[in-house]
Amino acid sequence: MTQQRTTAEGGMETSFGYRDVAEGQKQPLVDAVFHRVAGRYDLMNDLMSGGLHRLWKDAMVTWLNPPRRGGWNALDVAGGTGDIALRIVDASDGAAFVTVLDINGSMLEVGRERAARKGVDGRLDFVEANAEELPFEDETFDAYTIAFGIRNVPRIEVALSEAWRVLKPGGRFLCLEFSEVTMPILDRVYEAWSFRAIPQIGKAVTGDAESYEYLVESIRRFPRQSDFAAMIARAGFSRVTWRDFSGGIAALHSGWKL
Ligand SMILES: C[S@@+](CC[C@H](N)C(=O)[O-])C[C@H]1O[C@@H](n2cnc3c(N)ncnc32)[C@H](O)[C@@H]1O
Repeated sequence: MTQQRTTAEGGMETSFGYRDVAEGQKQPLVDAVFHRVAGRYDLMNDLMSGGLHRLWKDAMVTWLNPPRRGGWNALDVAGGTGDIALRIVDASDGAAFVTVLDINGSMLEVGRERAARKGVDGRLDFVEANAEELPFEDETFDAYTIAFGIRNVPRIEVALSEAWRVLKPGGRFLCLEFSEVTMPILDRVYEAWSFRAIPQIGKAVTGDAESYEYLVESIRRFPRQSDFAAMIARAGFSRVTWRDFSGGIAALHSGWKL
């Protein structure tokens, strides 16, 4: 068991929450979590974050600022139930085309149903694949987004180099992820909420505390803001910056393929 944050030097590939697992073992464990939670995923996001995740995701898409013209394509990796993709289509007044990629068919199925209900399924494509091995040609997309996904991907540096590969020159990388809380009192409140309340809410709503223990533990093991920025820069991205949301509970990292 290891509780320390991993760094820019790695460690997430063998970390399943606080458990150390052998190389190659993390992905099937992560997949099992998301197969279990898919049906209640959106509801649980609201309950766990008090709706804050909606504001962070809105801010992500505002920063992305998708153009209101056709011919602009985004790839939303670990796109799950389509939260980011639906926002991008909306913000572009239906002009953008978004490919939602996720390794988990159960999550994508929820996304497909949502897109059809909203009548925007013509602007979205759903692809079941691994972020570490994107089934696209080099220089295909204008933007690459990933929200609350990268810490679940075992080999983060491989996913980042795949992001760089599939982006067109001038393309934008944006990653929203839980991060390190930097405000003194907030960090203790957040700690108590994460480790006491969230698994209990998970248990009450889904009957499954374990999946939510993984969630909070994986957040604690993910590299802090500056370390993750270094990893993004190392993958080849330029002008890497980030902004914290809610005192660092989440951080939005940005980079450009220049
Ligand atoms: C916490 S959910 C985020 C979903 C969505 N982006 C959101 O913000 O609501 C994490 C997602 O990462 C996906 N995932 C985990 N490992 C992956 C991988 N190697 N490649 C692609 N997706 C992966 C999971 O299946 C899950 O849907």
